[in-house]
Amino acid sequence: MSEALLELNDVHVNFPAKTNWRGKVTEQVHALNGLDLRVERGETLGIVGESGCGKSTLAKLLMGMLKPSTGQLELARSTNSWLGRGMQMVFQDPLSSLDPRLPVWRSITEPVWIQSRTSEKERRALAASLAAQVGIRPEYLDRPPHAFSGGQRQRIAIARALSGQPDIMVLDEPTSALDISVQAQILNLLVELQRQRNLTYVLISHNVSVVRHMSDRVAVMYLGQIVELGEAKQVLDSPKHPYTQLLMESVPRIGAELDGAPGNTELPGNRKLPQGCYFRERCPYAGAGCEQPQGLRELGSGGAVRCWRKLWQ
Ligand SMILES: Nc1ncnc2c1ncn2[C@@H]1O[C@H](COP(=O)(O)OP(=O)(O)OP(=O)(O)O)[C@@H](O)[C@H]1O
Ligand SMILES: [Mg+2]
Repeated sequence: MSEALLELNDVHVNFPAKTNWRGKVTEQVHALNGLDLRVERGETLGIVGESGCGKSTLAKLLMGMLKPSTGQLELARSTNSWLGRGMQMVFQDPLSSLDPRLPVWRSITEPVWIQSRTSEKERRALAASLAAQVGIRPEYLDRPPHAFSGGQRQRIAIARALSGQPDIMVLDEPTSALDISVQAQILNLLVELQRQRNLTYVLISHNVSVVRHMSDRVAVMYLGQIVELGEAKQVLDSPKHPYTQLLMESVPRIGAELDGAPGNTELPGNRKLPQGCYFRERCPYAGAGCEQPQGLRELGSGGAVRCWRKLWQ
C-alpha cells in the first residue's frame, strides 16, 4: 500500500456571508461540505469541477492558509515539516508570489529565508542552482519580475516553491495564464521536477488535456464535495457520476476547457445546501431514492462515486 502524505476526513469550511447589525453571522457560504481525501506520496492528484465548487478553498486549506470549520486534516509525520512548510503553492498568476520591487533571486529564496536565516552568499548560490534547474539563466537573477516573460516568471515561481523543499506542491491553474506553446514547456518542467525529487502534486485545472496529461488520479468536486474519484483515465474517459458525465460532455472536442456549468448556467446555491443528493436538481437521472444524502461509494476498481444508482452497470 502506498504511503499517505495527507488525509482529509469529513472537512467542512464555511465562510460568513451575511451579518446582522450586532455583527452576528446570519448566513454562511458552505464552501467545503464533508471532504474526504487521501493524497499519496509521488502521485499527481488532479482536481476538477466548475467555478465556485471549492477548489481554491481546498488549496488554501492544504497550505494552512485556512482552518477547517469542522473535520480533520492530517499530514504524515514523514513530510518535510508541518503545514505551510512541507507544502508550497504555484498560482495561476506568478506575479502574486513575486514581489515586483525585489530582484528575483530574493523572491526565489524567500521560503528559505523564512525557515532559516542563511547568508546572502548562500542564498544567491541556491537561487542560481534552482534557476538552472527551471531553465532560467543565473546571470538574470538580479532583475525584477517584470523583466521576464510570463513563462519565465512561472519558472521563477516554481523555483521559489522548490526552495522551500516541499514534499507536496499545490498547483492552482499553473498554466492557464500562459500561451499554449509555453504551457507545454511548463508542464514538462513540472513532470521532470516531480521525477527528480519525488514530488507529490495536487493539480487544480479547468483544462481537461492538462489534467489528463499530468494526473495519476482525478477527483471531481461538486458543491464542496468529491462526487467521483479514481484513476485519471477511468474518470475522464468513462465517467460514472452523472455530474462527471455532464462535465465531460460539455468539454468542446478541441478547446478542452471545463468552464461553466454544463447544461445550466445557474450555479446552485452553496448558501442554502440542497437536501439529499446535492446534484439532484440538475441530474437527468434523479428520482426516488435521491432525496437521501449520498455517501462516497467505493467501486471495485479503487475509484469511488457519490451516487446510489448503479449507472455504470
Ligand atoms: N473568503 C471568502 N469569503 C466568503 N466566501 C468565499 C471566500 N472564499 C471563497 N468563498 C466562496 O466559497 C465558494 C468556493 O470558492 P473557491 O474559490 O474555492 O471556488 P473555486 O472552485 O476555486 O472556483 P474557480 O474555479 O472560479 O476558481 C464560492 O462560492 C466562493 O464565493
Ligand atoms: Mg479557484
